Amino acid sequence: MIKLLSHLSYVAITTPDVEASVAFYVDRVGLTVVDRVDGAVYLRCWGDHYAYSVVVLPGDEPSLATMAWRTTSPEALDEAVRRLEDAGVQGDWSEVHKIGRAYTFTGPWGHPMTLHWDVTRHVAEPGAASLYPDRPAKRSTVAGAPRQLDHVTIAASDVDAFAAWYNDVLGFRIMARTLLDEAPISVFSVLTTNEKSHDLGVVLDGSTRPGRVNHFAFWVDTREELLIAADTLMEHGVPIEYGPSIHGIGEQNFLYYREPSTLRIELNTGGYRNYVPDWEPNTWTPSMGSNNFYRNGAMPMSMTESFPAADGPSATEEGVPDEIRDALLNPYAVHGRG
Ligand SMILES: [Fe+2]
Repeated sequence: MIKLLSHLSYVAITTPDVEASVAFYVDRVGLTVVDRVDGAVYLRCWGDHYAYSVVVLPGDEPSLATMAWRTTSPEALDEAVRRLEDAGVQGDWSEVHKIGRAYTFTGPWGHPMTLHWDVTRHVAEPGAASLYPDRPAKRSTVAGAPRQLDHVTIAASDVDAFAAWYNDVLGFRIMARTLLDEAPISVFSVLTTNEKSHDLGVVLDGSTRPGRVNHFAFWVDTREELLIAADTLMEHGVPIEYGPSIHGIGEQNFLYYREPSTLRIELNTGGYRNYVPDWEPNTWTPSMGSNNFYRNGAMPMSMTESFPAADGPSATEEGVPDEIRDALLNPYAVHGRG
């Protein structure tokens, strides 16, 4: 298969209070509003190369409206669509704001995804241009403001099957996974379209609600910026949900907090670059420090919440099998030392 996808280009999310979420992204995360169209607000990080990387939409619950990947060429877009339709997926072509021609489909576990080749590159406003010709705008003056969008982590009812499908159909490389220490239940996997450890993560979803998202993440250049962001968030009354610490898988420094809709966002930095085209993914367990490499603190239970809530207004009433619920009690927990 030719390489189909190049990188995550934007994430669209819904929130019950668009203005509260947008104000948080601007004031606390350090993004900039670039457009407002029909209730949608388009934002970008200072280092994002295209017109926007985050779209905030009105909705009853926090959710993932779509996650978008840019293909490697126009031909790769057509090939990706052919492969999707051969796999039984039927999506729709549309014109996306400042993107152009794009194909949006819902994956087998209910997650909307948009693929596109066309983009509009960001052109800095007068006075906002960077001295670096390769940098699309001046660095933000908000402390710890991320350079760019980094990854999305969704929730699905079968982690390994999800990873296998996106690998088989769209060519995502599977980089690592986590099995529970107590039972051979796969609770986490990371996939990538490039040299990063992941631009798509998947956590086990014990609910019966399809298409949920656990978090999305931004990139900061250094651990110092991540620590400054944590300090600034705390100083401004934003609780830190988990971190700062370091993931074993991917070796990234992480910091998790919530935006006003309750949707979880993450800051990442560091970690490896992996260029191996036929990488064989390793299997971790939580006791190896897959989530918290220092193994000196258990993950808060709140981190298992995905969005929309499993029992939210649109959720079904079906129960979760007991064995899955038990396995999910704390899928990232540090065992033995927690
Ligand atoms: Fe993440």
